[in-house]
Amino acid sequence: MTTRRGFLLSTAGLATAAVAADGPAHDANLTVFLSDVHVSPSIAPDDSYQLDSFRRCVDGILAMRPLPARAVVFGDIALGKGMTADYEMSRPEFMRLAAAGIKLHYTMGNHDHREPFLRVFPESAADLRVKGRFASVVNLGHCDLMLLDTLDETGGREGTGNIVSGAIDEAQLNWLEDEVSRARRPFVCGAHHSPREASLAMDDGQKRMALQKLKESEFYMGWVQGHGHCWFKGFNASSSTNLLATFRLLGLPSTGLWGDIGYAVARSFEDRLEVALHIDDFYYPRPARDGEIRPRCWDENIKEKKGDVCVFPTRMA
Ligand SMILES: [Fe+2]
Repeated sequence: MTTRRGFLLSTAGLATAAVAADGPAHDANLTVFLSDVHVSPSIAPDDSYQLDSFRRCVDGILAMRPLPARAVVFGDIALGKGMTADYEMSRPEFMRLAAAGIKLHYTMGNHDHREPFLRVFPESAADLRVKGRFASVVNLGHCDLMLLDTLDETGGREGTGNIVSGAIDEAQLNWLEDEVSRARRPFVCGAHHSPREASLAMDDGQKRMALQKLKESEFYMGWVQGHGHCWFKGFNASSSTNLLATFRLLGLPSTGLWGDIGYAVARSFEDRLEVALHIDDFYYPRPARDGEIRPRCWDENIKEKKGDVCVFPTRMA
C-alpha cells in the first residue's frame, strides 16, 4: 500500500503535486467530493445497482492523472438506517482510494449513525474535532473546507431512522465561530444539509449569529452540500443591503442511489475554488429495467449538466 509519507514533494516550484516513488502523482489542489453513497447488502438483488455505481465512481477517480490528494464524503453513506453491514459493504471501495494515497474525510447524513460508522471506519475519528461530531478543517490547497456534521441522530442507534432535516449542536456552533474568527485564508463550508436544512437560517439566536458570522467573514466563499442527490447551483444570499454578502451554494450528485449520479472534482486556485461535475448517469427513483422505456429527459439532463462547473470566487479580487 502506498502511504502519504511515501510521497516526495515536487520540485517544480508551486509544490502543488506530490510524486509517489512507486505510483502516480497527487495534486494538492485537487479534491474529490462524494455524497449519498447509500449501499447496503439488504437490498434485493433485482434492485441492487448502488454498489456497482459507486465502484464506477471510484474507478473514475483512480483513473485521474494526477490523482486528487483527498476525497471528502458528504454523508448518507448507509442506505437508510446506519447499519454496520452497510458500512462494511462500502469500506473496501473507500479503501481503494486510501490505498492510492488519497486521504479521506467524512461527515454524516440523516441516514447514518455515528457509532457503527466509527466502528467500521475507526481512522475517521481523527476528524472529530468537536466531541462526537465530524467537524474538521480540510486543507483544499489554496483554501480550506470547514466540514460540519449536521446529522440530528434522533434514532439513537443503528436500525432506526433519523429525522430528515439536520441540526448543529451548540459545541459545533462554538467551534465554527472560533474557526471563522481564526481564518486567515478563503474557505467554504460543507455539510450533508444546506444551511437552511441545518437550521442555521432559522430564527434561533445562536444559529442565526453563526450564519451571520460566516457571511461577515471576508474569507467565506459559500456552502457545499449533499442530501439532494442533484447537481444544484444556487446562492446563499444575505440581506439586500450588502451586495457582497452573496455566496455560492452547491448541491452534489449521489454516487448511485437516484438523481444525478457521479461525483465532483474541486480544484483550488489563489482566487477561487472551481468544482466540476462528473456525471455518469441520471435515474429516478431507480434505473430503468429491461423492457422499460428510459425517459428521454434523463439523457437530456445528463447532456445539460455534463462537465458543468461551479466557481466559488474569493470575496475580494
Ligand atoms: Fe441521501
